[in-house]
Amino acid sequence: MSRSSFQQFHWHSKQFALASNDIHAFYHLLAEQMQGLALTKKTLGHIEGYPLELYQSANPQPKLANVLISAGFHGEEAAGPWGMLKFLSTLEPSITEQLNLSLLPLVNPTGFKAGHRFNQFGENPNRGFLVDKGRAKPAEDCSREGQLLIAQQALLKNLSQDGILTCHEDVLQHNCYVYSFEPEAAAGPFSYTLRDSLAEYFPVAADESIDGCKLEDGLIHNHYDSSFESCLVKLGAKRGACSETPALEDFDQRINANCAVMQQFVSASIEYHTKQV
Ligand code: NI
Repeated sequence: MSRSSFQQFHWHSKQFALASNDIHAFYHLLAEQMQGLALTKKTLGHIEGYPLELYQSANPQPKLANVLISAGFHGEEAAGPWGMLKFLSTLEPSITEQLNLSLLPLVNPTGFKAGHRFNQFGENPNRGFLVDKGRAKPAEDCSREGQLLIAQQALLKNLSQDGILTCHEDVLQHNCYVYSFEPEAAAGPFSYTLRDSLAEYFPVAADESIDGCKLEDGLIHNHYDSSFESCLVKLGAKRGACSETPALEDFDQRINANCAVMQQFVSASIEYHTKQV
């Protein structure tokens, strides 16, 4: 089986009492959740009238870890953006005194609205991020969203210095797994702790090959392709992960798992930075 670019997936969330592709409600609730957090919004551009928004700590402090969390690259992987809303609802305003937090809550709005993987132009927003001599450059087939992100590469590189988490889902799976990045090292506690936070909600995928990549212990480790997360690690992010929740399972469980992996990423990032400083 392979992933279809335009097959539409729609789910109903009981906890939000909304359809997974209700984009107006999503942006509305996002703006509401941001109130009270010291994060400023920067609009990187628009795709068919929908903004690609980056939120970042309003007063970043040099001694704190710089981490970036992103979601919604693939439109049908809807539990990522909704999981981020739930994650935001659990944050204390003091979070920005503990780390310099940046967020890309919904990278592919047209895909999200339609409930399909690619954007409405048939482009894959998580491919086409090439790196050459320490600089990102768009591949020929780079999506509109990818081009907007690459245009901000200096900023995004700084914001993700200490870690990048991107939240995806796998529509072919009943099990969870993680693409993990710890450059020049075997998978360590950082990778396993993120896997374990998903394992609270779903069984971990058995050792096998997924999309041609070797999966071991629920991890595909240090696999570099032209994805956004791979690009940021190549640009210097110390750690990276792409979480994969199983989209054949219950939507609300997947939202909860995405919230949990974001929380775990934040607490692990604070812990590692404290040890290092
Ligand atoms: Ni994906």
